[in-house]
Amino acid sequence: MRDVIRKAVFPAAGLGTRFLPATKAQPKEMLPLVDKPIIQYGVEEALASGVDNIILVTGRGKNAIEDHFDVSVELETFLESRGKTDLLNEIRKISNLINVSYVRQGEPLGLGHAVLVTRTLVGNEPFAVILADDVIDATPPALRQMIQVFEELDGPVVAIEEVPPEDVSAYGVIDAEEVRPGVYRIRDLVEKPPRDEAPSNLAIIGRYVLTPDIFPALEETANDRSGEIQLTNGLRRLLKQRPIYGCRVAGVRHDTGNKLGYLRAVVYFALRRPDLAEPFREYLRAIDREAAVRR
Ligand code: G1P
Repeated sequence: MRDVIRKAVFPAAGLGTRFLPATKAQPKEMLPLVDKPIIQYGVEEALASGVDNIILVTGRGKNAIEDHFDVSVELETFLESRGKTDLLNEIRKISNLINVSYVRQGEPLGLGHAVLVTRTLVGNEPFAVILADDVIDATPPALRQMIQVFEELDGPVVAIEEVPPEDVSAYGVIDAEEVRPGVYRIRDLVEKPPRDEAPSNLAIIGRYVLTPDIFPALEETANDRSGEIQLTNGLRRLLKQRPIYGCRVAGVRHDTGNKLGYLRAVVYFALRRPDLAEPFREYLRAIDREAAVRR
């Protein structure tokens, strides 16, 4: 039988220091894009890609994420009594469709470590990793596009995007041969190289389809200079044993992990909303940009 991707891992233990003070008492994954928390976009992408077992890697102060995906009896009773059926269906939809497990990372020892702590929950099957900071608007969904490549080529797949050369040092970067349009066979990968040492401008973005042999590879991966275990370095080790592929996903990606990217995403998704698009577009046209600067 062909391996099916049933589980998606969401690393969500980061402290969100870039968004202080907003993230002092709430996780950054819960910041809204319009009215939906960032993490829900990723969970809905998994679901739309056929993956309904969600494994959240959390840490201290992340209870709001657990509550968000749980049933809220008081809220549901309240909405029901007021006849607010649309809202009721909206908040029930997601928690009814997914099966969520939580595991704590304990110490923030990097993305590779976050994946490693899911080993028992994932077990011996291929799985997806979604970095919810990267919100990707795509049809078919980004993860679905990658699963298609995984099913065809039967090896781990990372999502990639061409980025401007000055940005490569913020990403894992691949050296690769394009085997067909948008699909690459990886020759090497390097985590956050200086611009002049980057093998290309093909950056790994926050989606992975992995096979369980990543776990022993990560276990053998040394911590980097900052004490973290990098997933990129684990993949580099695995590459000695099997081919790994890159998939250029077709869609619009927003990096909501920094303020500018977050603001762009809010504007983008507001413009995608039928109930807001028109007045919001009008506001953007009319806003006196200079006034904001003068004040
Ligand atoms: C992580 C990975 C990096 C990848 C990036 C995508 O970095 O380590 O390889 O390119 O996600 O968003 P982070 O953004 O957590 O620093």
